[in-house]
Amino acid sequence: MQVTKTVEETRNLVKNWKKEGKSIGLVPTMGFLHEGHASLIQRCREENDIVVVSDFVNPTQFGPTEDLEAYPRDFARDSALCEGLGADLIFNPEPENMYSNPHAFVNIDLLSETLCGKTRPIHFKGVCTVVSKLFNIVAPDRAYFGQKDAQQLAIIRKMVEDLNFDIQIVGCPIVREADGLAKSSRNTYLDENERKAALCLSRAVKKGQEVIHAGAAAQDVLTEMKAIIEAEPLAEIDYVSMVDALTMQPVEKAEKDVLVAMAVYIGKTRLIDNFSYEV
Ligand code: PAJ
Repeated sequence: MQVTKTVEETRNLVKNWKKEGKSIGLVPTMGFLHEGHASLIQRCREENDIVVVSDFVNPTQFGPTEDLEAYPRDFARDSALCEGLGADLIFNPEPENMYSNPHAFVNIDLLSETLCGKTRPIHFKGVCTVVSKLFNIVAPDRAYFGQKDAQQLAIIRKMVEDLNFDIQIVGCPIVREADGLAKSSRNTYLDENERKAALCLSRAVKKGQEVIHAGAAAQDVLTEMKAIIEAEPLAEIDYVSMVDALTMQPVEKAEKDVLVAMAVYIGKTRLIDNFSYEV
């Protein structure tokens, strides 16, 4: 497995692989890898000749009061995990090598304004910008994203369509801990009591799935889910919403494919979870 730190080195490797006619898969990450990331890398390994993992805590997707500095990092561990999963390259640039100042941004307006975009107004602009750059640097045939960040996945799909990236976007299911908590690098912020309290998210997902199958209106689904979270003293709801799966705009009823998504503060840690419902 190779490690690159610069755009130039990465491009040179990619050029050679392309000359040899090899297919390339990309798994964009911010590092501190866990089994959720591993599931994407494994899928990428199965479907491509070359597996590229990017490991970059992207500063442009963090708001001024968010956890950019505190975000967990362990490149040695990430690197060993990627090697074990058969990755060919980890691209681990420094921010200086990715961004000049000032620089261009990519933005997908409408879909970025609801759900997480309300609380994190610049977040998806930063995500679209870095993912576009990674797409241009690595020029993959396929790129892998988790349903855990369902709004991000919907926005990336729209960006690829709108900007004509010739890349297949592969969505991968949410990987959970044995007790149901969705795996996340941010779970490391939780103390013992918060870790227990965090289970209200996956319990709310389960409840929502039961209720929606019985044909309930959005308001009833969301009320039942919110009740579970509100019963947990350490939890504070940012949002619990039902939106159209493509446009990310609120709906009254699950008449088309929908996403039911939530963000909840457990103490100071903001966690997300969701489920999709296909009609
Ligand atoms: P990060 O949070 O590191 O996640 C990288 C990828 O792993 C994302 O596609 C995310 O959805 C997926 N992932 C995380 N936890 C998962 C889980 N429990 N199950 C399945 N997939 C999971 O998302 C980002 O980084 C960044 O925004 C990025 C796209 C890399 C741009 O900077």
